[in-house]
Amino acid sequence: MSNIKHLLSIYDLSKQNIYELLYQAFEFKKNKEHNHNICYRKTLGLMFDKPSTRTIVSFIVAMTQLSGNPIVLDVNNLQLKHRESIQDTAMVLSQYLDSIVIRTFDHHNIEKFAKFSSIPIINGLTNSEHPCQVLSDIMTIMELYNINTVKDLAKLNIVYIGDGSNNISCSLLGIVAILGLHYTIISPSMYCPKIDVLNKSLLYSSSSKANIKVTTNIDEIHNADVIYTDVWTSMGYENERYTRKQSLMPYQVNSILLQKASKNCIVLHCLPAVKGEEITSDIMERYKYSIIKQSENKLYMQKSILAYVVSK
Ligand code: CP
Ligand code: NVA
Repeated sequence: MSNIKHLLSIYDLSKQNIYELLYQAFEFKKNKEHNHNICYRKTLGLMFDKPSTRTIVSFIVAMTQLSGNPIVLDVNNLQLKHRESIQDTAMVLSQYLDSIVIRTFDHHNIEKFAKFSSIPIINGLTNSEHPCQVLSDIMTIMELYNINTVKDLAKLNIVYIGDGSNNISCSLLGIVAILGLHYTIISPSMYCPKIDVLNKSLLYSSSSKANIKVTTNIDEIHNADVIYTDVWTSMGYENERYTRKQSLMPYQVNSILLQKASKNCIVLHCLPAVKGEEITSDIMERYKYSIIKQSENKLYMQKSILAYVVSK
């Protein structure tokens, strides 16, 4: 079995790995000089087949601040896009680079790439998962609630509302299942997580004691400490936009919904947001402190992830 530390899915990490990634991310945040040479003479490739602002820039800055070299690969001009296989591309790029962050559509393609790669591959988002995002989101929740331990984190109820079947919701499901947290997905039935995704999380929950609930009932928002939402139409699903909007409108995070929730709850959004769809402008404005902190913390978590994958 290969000992390369790929991060393709949140399930590639154990509870202990996640503790360590969180701990290191907070160290990077506290001390700008922490481990600043860890990527010295290492090169990180960034292969993004979908747009990105936060993930690509935070990885570039993280790699640079850790004394390494980031290279953005223009996917439209790689032979991969035109006449070369994933297998050959992965084998060749492994000769030059030390790690690659990949953002693409089909999750199977990143798995295939990793299979033929002899360097660690990091998932910068696929249709199924966004593991780096949810790692930094857990960091943000800990910071906002001034929590130091996962045991205390388990006292909070994290509620995701909206498209429960998308990459963010599914990676959140994974991380809460591994860590043993409380998590509620509020979503119309056609946008609940697929049964295999849910079953996988339940398998982990039985040992971690995670408390996972999936419901269509928006009143379940009442005991949320954290309300998390994301776009209704993820990248790659644009032709479903109209149908999605129709079904998801009752699940919008707006002032009426928030009247049902505790006054002390926080609102999170991984961004980019479509204001007027999953969240209204006034709610974005009211919770911009927590939402922008999520973006900020991606830098520290990406450093932690880079340190984890490049360290032997
Ligand atoms: N949250 C997030 O991944 O943002 P980008 O699409 O800008 O990378
Ligand atoms: N679910 C969104 C996340 C963007 C960071 C998408 O995939 O478009």
